[in-house]
Amino acid sequence: MSREMRGTASACSNIALIKYWGKADPADNIPLNGSVSMTLSDAITTTTVVWDPSLSQDEIYLDGERILDHRGLRISRFLDRIRADWYRMHARVASMNSFPAGTGIASSASGFAALATAAFAAFGEGLPEQTELTRWARRGSGSGCRSIHGGFVEWIGGTDDASSFSRQLCPADHWDLRDLVVLVSSAPKAISSSEGHRIAGRHPFMAARQAELPLCMLATKGAIASRDFGTLGAIVEHEALEVQGIMMSGQPCALYMQPATLALLHAVRSWREDDGLPVYFTLDAGPNVHILCEGRDAPAVRERIEALVPGLAILENRPGSPVRVHDAHLL
Ligand code: PMV
Repeated sequence: MSREMRGTASACSNIALIKYWGKADPADNIPLNGSVSMTLSDAITTTTVVWDPSLSQDEIYLDGERILDHRGLRISRFLDRIRADWYRMHARVASMNSFPAGTGIASSASGFAALATAAFAAFGEGLPEQTELTRWARRGSGSGCRSIHGGFVEWIGGTDDASSFSRQLCPADHWDLRDLVVLVSSAPKAISSSEGHRIAGRHPFMAARQAELPLCMLATKGAIASRDFGTLGAIVEHEALEVQGIMMSGQPCALYMQPATLALLHAVRSWREDDGLPVYFTLDAGPNVHILCEGRDAPAVRERIEALVPGLAILENRPGSPVRVHDAHLL
């Protein structure tokens, strides 16, 4: 095999409605529990992989810049796993996000879903079967396995590499749900997700969380299937605060919320409880607030956010599409 092989894929990020926080096996990103997400239409990563026999090491470019730090190493380690099974050559990788770099929107989910897909697309021998592709994305970044599918997605946590994969619960057109992401801060996180997963694994509250999650997962999936926004919102808000509680009370402590985060959480509750606007929030491992509502309420919700925190960018998402291979190569 002496020629270059090129493939490109685009994947949407996702927001966890039930969170993955804590790993049973860090080597393969096997989670302590299953999770549920919505794929995000407007937070997209596009990645081109060029397997090139003339390279003596990988070359990685993120948003146009050559990367030589731990992020590049993580991508190379992931490519090593593919190389071990397939062709043993190095690659040039370029990745661009549709959202501005450093906004604090998790790009590792969309990034590893796009990377895994592009890496296999480049071989030109057909992609692995979809469930297997979700395993590949998960090996790169746990939440990445949920970004292979569009719409509403479940990651079946499993107990080992074979039993841990994602599946679609409902396609994107099942429900016009919106996630308005308010970009509170783009400062780098003091505690990375990887470190956060480790701290969570030894947290004393974790046993209680794991005990209640199976019922919670069932209720979440039922609420999505029946488009019951009140039930879904109540579960999702409680879930977000439970996970933040574990983050904040871990050792070391991960205090992701900023003053504007808290102002938005209080406002969302007041818009709902005092003004009757059906709106709920969730949070990730960061200060940005994900404000959830149905499509018909999105203009009113946006107006209120803009009045409360003028100047903060809002990224509005609908349920997004599955990962897709195409020819608009970056390299
Ligand atoms: O996939 P990771 O290792 O970046 O972890 C993601 C963790 C959360 O975003 C906080 C929750 C989730 O399920 O996406």
